[in-house]
Amino acid sequence: MSGTQQLSTKHLLGIKNLTAADIRLIFDTAKEFKEVINRPIKKVPSLRDITVANLFFESSTRTRVSFELAEKRLSADTVNFSASTSSVGKGETLLDTVNNILAMKVDMVVMRHPAPGAPHFLANHIDANIINAGDGTHEHPTQALLDAYSMEEYFGESLEGKKVAIFGDILHSRVALSNIFCLQKLGAEVTVCGPPTLIPQHIGALGVGVSHDVRKTLQWCDVANVLRIQLERQDIKYFPSLREYTLYYGINKALLDSLDKPVLIMHPGPINRGVEIDSDAADSSHSIILQQVENGVAVRMAVLYLLAALK
Ligand code: CP
Repeated sequence: MSGTQQLSTKHLLGIKNLTAADIRLIFDTAKEFKEVINRPIKKVPSLRDITVANLFFESSTRTRVSFELAEKRLSADTVNFSASTSSVGKGETLLDTVNNILAMKVDMVVMRHPAPGAPHFLANHIDANIINAGDGTHEHPTQALLDAYSMEEYFGESLEGKKVAIFGDILHSRVALSNIFCLQKLGAEVTVCGPPTLIPQHIGALGVGVSHDVRKTLQWCDVANVLRIQLERQDIKYFPSLREYTLYYGINKALLDSLDKPVLIMHPGPINRGVEIDSDAADSSHSIILQQVENGVAVRMAVLYLLAALK
């Protein structure tokens, strides 16, 4: 990789504290790495002397595999930690767990944790670079970066002036908050759409539009980023039934076909097919859901590479 530019931060805790220049640098670097991972030999030696610990205190498919692949493509040494098979169940604190792992000479920590702010807490107590792979309902920065990167790649131009709608369970979504910060820093307009009970009361203060009308919002937007209902984070009932949610807020092919323009369909996964989106819409030619996953590896390679330079 070429270039002498650096990120403004040694940790990726959220999009909130990244600058637009940081995001642009990550995208430019990801573009170079995307070219690398499409070659017959997909590996570069950039992180050969770096050890990365992937600490997952919550379940994950895409983020975990994507980070692991990104680290391997960069020739880093990796260790994987899963809370369910660790000593966390024996009462060890987060700080003790991480300090014990770092004592084995780990340079970078990728962490998913159910508690909002957990990676920020770690960053205040340890030396290693921390990458937030999702902290509770707070932020999921690499998801927002790969989402915005995928949108720019699809349109072949910057997101300045593009209209992006985020549909679904905004209240419990870390993807929504990181997407809002990222898209606004890149000049896009954002509207959130869902049932009133699943939209945070004061979210308009972030400068986003708020809608409860799926058809009108689809008609307004260039991109529909559809989120699932996070039942695992809901301690009360926010709507009468999944069937009713799908009826009023689900996105389906018939609805998309009835619009007078195509809308780009995105979803961070995991999809609950037939609930927030039907299969015909999720798998349509206007959907880039699998391209998002592909781009995730290149974007995470870029983040790891740029942060490792700031050790
Ligand atoms: N998009 C996302 O974070 O998926 P996982 O929970 O499978 O990592």
